[in-house]
Amino acid sequence: MAEKKIILTGDRPTGRLHLGHYVGSLMRRVEMQNSGLYDETYILIADDQALTDNADNPGKIRDNIINVMLDYLSVGIDPAKTTICVQSALPALHALTFYYLNLVTTSRLSRNPTVKAEIQMRGFAEEGLPAGFFTYPVSQAADITAFDATVVPVGEDQLPMIEQTREIVERFNRTYGETLVMPKALIPENETQRRLPGVDGKAKMSKSLGNCIYLSDSAKAVKKQVNGKMFTDPLHLRIEDPGHLEGNVVFAYLDALCRDEHFAEYLPDYANLDEMKAHYCKGGLGDGTCKKFLINILEERLKPIREAREKWAADIDTVYDILREGTQKAVEKTNATLARVRKAMRIDYFDSRVIVKEWEALLRQTNQ
Ligand code: TRP
Repeated sequence: MAEKKIILTGDRPTGRLHLGHYVGSLMRRVEMQNSGLYDETYILIADDQALTDNADNPGKIRDNIINVMLDYLSVGIDPAKTTICVQSALPALHALTFYYLNLVTTSRLSRNPTVKAEIQMRGFAEEGLPAGFFTYPVSQAADITAFDATVVPVGEDQLPMIEQTREIVERFNRTYGETLVMPKALIPENETQRRLPGVDGKAKMSKSLGNCIYLSDSAKAVKKQVNGKMFTDPLHLRIEDPGHLEGNVVFAYLDALCRDEHFAEYLPDYANLDEMKAHYCKGGLGDGTCKKFLINILEERLKPIREAREKWAADIDTVYDILREGTQKAVEKTNATLARVRKAMRIDYFDSRVIVKEWEALLRQTNQ
């Protein structure tokens, strides 16, 4: 039997999703969901993972589950094609994590570059590092393998998690026999889509830095972020001055989002982004014009998302049912994997009574 093609991704429900999530992963998930090329598609709302650094604030996680749900549904995640579920309601994930923890070393975990950066950012190096946070890549390996995922579409910062997962799969299968499916990461080909900078030019969008454009932002709020905060080129003082693209956030966003058709529609002076860039570098193209063009492109994307969000937000009962039913399906899927794992590990004591015969034989032998 040919291996099924299964997609699994997830997000921590710690806040509303932003443009960085959108170009880095969400956009691609919708395309893949609609491509018809995959047998099953799952999205996991990783509330347990979110708790690993929010243990004292479970209310924040609880509140943001609805925000993330609305973000998913409004960008076009279709519950008829994609199963959306909540991590904490899937007991198989907890059990798998516990077994996988035995297959990784603490030194391997401490080399994970994404976790290292997060430890720095959260001040855990000084305050003390929660063991649950330190080991969350192992729980993420449980997420991925529990769904038999073959493809994990993620942003670039998640590559170390997939690498860690692949090592666990390799080690598990070598130790207990071929049981787990080997997953592959899928990151955007477009380099700026992999890691969209914040509007201020900082490496990443982050709520605490106030440099995000949220999928749920009003047109006015988007305009304010672009016109008021977006970093361009400090050397480009007058329109005639030559401009620079390096570190220029307006052009980074255009790289990630603009297509040739956008020029015909909003900026017909140029046929494509290369022409526009050439003029900017030579001098004579103002930041105001570039920003206006970007705002038009952003609006074209965000308006339908905003409108869909309003519709879903008016029917939270349905949103709840989608999540409940998706989670129910995911319980079954992940329990099946756990049963396979327990069997491979020979800890499936209560799936049948065969062990009674084994124990009897064992006792007969030792009594002889
Ligand atoms: N670590 C991911 C993030 O911070 C969220 C996540 C949890 C995830 N489980 C996953 C992503 C499984 C992909 C697959 O965004």
